[in-house]
Amino acid sequence: MEKIDLEKVRSDTPGVSDRIFLDNAGASPTPNPVHQRVVRHLEFEREVGGYEAKRQCQEELEGMYVSAADLFNAHPDEIAFIENATRAWDMAFYGIGFQSGDRILTSSAEYSSNYLAFLQMAQRHDISIEVIPDDEQGQIDVDALANRLDHRVRLVNLCHAPTSNGLLNPAEQVGELLRDSPALFFLDACQSAGQVPLDVARIGCDVLTTTGRKFLRGPRGTGLLYIRRERLEDFDPPFVDIHSAQWVGRDEFVLRPDARRFENWESNVAGRLGLKAAVDYCAALGIDNIRQRVNRLAQNMRRQLSEIKGLQLLDRGPQKTGIVTFTVPSREAESIRRALATQFIYVHAQQVADARLDIEGIAKDLIRASIHYFNTTTEINRFCAALEATVNN
Ligand SMILES: Cc1ncc(COP(=O)(O)O)c(C=O)c1O
Repeated sequence: MEKIDLEKVRSDTPGVSDRIFLDNAGASPTPNPVHQRVVRHLEFEREVGGYEAKRQCQEELEGMYVSAADLFNAHPDEIAFIENATRAWDMAFYGIGFQSGDRILTSSAEYSSNYLAFLQMAQRHDISIEVIPDDEQGQIDVDALANRLDHRVRLVNLCHAPTSNGLLNPAEQVGELLRDSPALFFLDACQSAGQVPLDVARIGCDVLTTTGRKFLRGPRGTGLLYIRRERLEDFDPPFVDIHSAQWVGRDEFVLRPDARRFENWESNVAGRLGLKAAVDYCAALGIDNIRQRVNRLAQNMRRQLSEIKGLQLLDRGPQKTGIVTFTVPSREAESIRRALATQFIYVHAQQVADARLDIEGIAKDLIRASIHYFNTTTEINRFCAALEATVNN
């Protein structure tokens, strides 16, 4: 039985009345309550000024931490608001005091910005970056990971749902394996938050990061960092300011006692309120309902795409998300994206540098169609028909 009120979510998303929006892994259109909350705050700031406006919505701003914590089954003290997923991840990553001989373990699903940070860290210290192979189904090979663990492994970084692939990595299995390990376990949940249930207690990750604008449907320039309470002191925030720390004596400062020690003093207040509205909107729909609907639509899309000649589906792994990727070897991905956009169908064209480990050797570019719960079967059918006509043109 359909548990999401399609009419309601579509009327909350006016842009979809005459467009087929399949770039939710890029930036999903914000639903009305999110948009309205942001705009209302900006108008209020114009009226009373930014400081007074913030003062008057302090309680709601605190509520953002509660909403985000509920989304991840965490505690509000374990949440920081950061301007995007990359910086959220960086704040934790650059806070690890890496030492010569440390090892970083990652997978083929790694996101490029994270890998760039590994490379930069490897230039500074004598550390190794090791990519765990995929298993035969295409997800991280958990046995291979187990075989690589030793006391020098400082960090295991797992990209839950990659940017360029429909795979959902087995985060809980990895967490189970690392439960008694001294290694830090980071989960990049940038593409899974908002479409897949996330429970940090079950997963057992020490750090989880996400962005607001993708499947959570929040405003741009918003992101979240979760840091497990017991691990907080293992990180030295790369920057401090008058919000993250207190200058208690001429030569002395103390850090905030919670995850907000990774935040900036100045931040996007309207964005924070909008992000709270987005997380609340997601919670009201129910993440399990979202997951079910997205799965159903994605299965339908994959089935139809598998029948189009000249198109190669790239998705792998036993568990998949609403991200559907493929190549058309005879065509540039960008030309297909453009052809579809002229018909008001929005997808994303991705280059190899965006996800080198994942794509290199398979293709130079790919097309990503990413589904959310407000999409319909009719839209999926229209997209597949338009794509087939474009490919065979
Ligand atoms: C898997 C993954 N991680 C991290 C990011 C970075 O997110 P942001 O652009 O908010 O920094 C992305 C963005 O596409 C992503 O797909």
